[in-house]
Amino acid sequence: MKKSRAPVICANWKMYKNIEEALAFIDVVIPVAEQSDCEVLIAVPFTAIRSCADRVRGTRISIGAQNMNDATAGAFTGEVSASMLQEAGATFVIVGHSERRRLFGETNSFIHQKIKRALDVGLRPIVCIGENYEERENGATHAVLKMQLQECLGDISKEATSHLMVAYEPNWAVGTGLPANPETVHQAIDDCRAFLGELWSSADAQRVTFLYGGSVDVQNAATFLQTPNIDGLLIGSVSLDPDSFAKIISLRQNVGAR
Ligand code: PGA
Repeated sequence: MKKSRAPVICANWKMYKNIEEALAFIDVVIPVAEQSDCEVLIAVPFTAIRSCADRVRGTRISIGAQNMNDATAGAFTGEVSASMLQEAGATFVIVGHSERRRLFGETNSFIHQKIKRALDVGLRPIVCIGENYEERENGATHAVLKMQLQECLGDISKEATSHLMVAYEPNWAVGTGLPANPETVHQAIDDCRAFLGELWSSADAQRVTFLYGGSVDVQNAATFLQTPNIDGLLIGSVSLDPDSFAKIISLRQNVGAR
């Protein structure tokens, strides 16, 4: 089945890699990305954005951030705004990652504000959603995803839909070595897209890129990439190794034209 949205492979480095390590990684990945039809995104620590953005200029790789504040400016010690990220060279930003929700208490309404601010300055948000283990066991997955989408994206303008990426990352699959079953992901994204269709229109919902994240590795990546509905991958721990990340980018080439 041919998919209409451009394939995306995104690395999320979390709090790993200094500038030297980041640049060495990028030098390995650039030639592989150049051979690929994927959009290759790397979400680096704040401190490495400028250097990495300079290094990838003119290549297929884009650099982004892993978080931002929802305000334009102000007395928010330790925070970074969307326009600061953009000035440093970021073109996208991950918002609402499960680690931010779980460890830093981020709520859907806070994430919603961040999404709006990111879009205001032209940064593409990757909005992370996903249920936890108890919610899945209790049959609440559908309701949880719907509420996250409603509260995070409810009043986002339809015009923004082609700039939006949503990452379905069930919490129980992130960093656990226990990836979701591709069929489960397919179903969840189907539900999400149908709900976004109700929120906007089905044509608008079709423009949103959906990624899967949660224990993606070199062995399971091809299956996810072949699964209808999955437009790309958000990869954490395995994306720290340039050879593994490059392998996943080149796998995309072999899983068939879309
Ligand atoms: P993981 O992380 O690939 O290590 O499970 C995914 C993520 O944090 O986005």
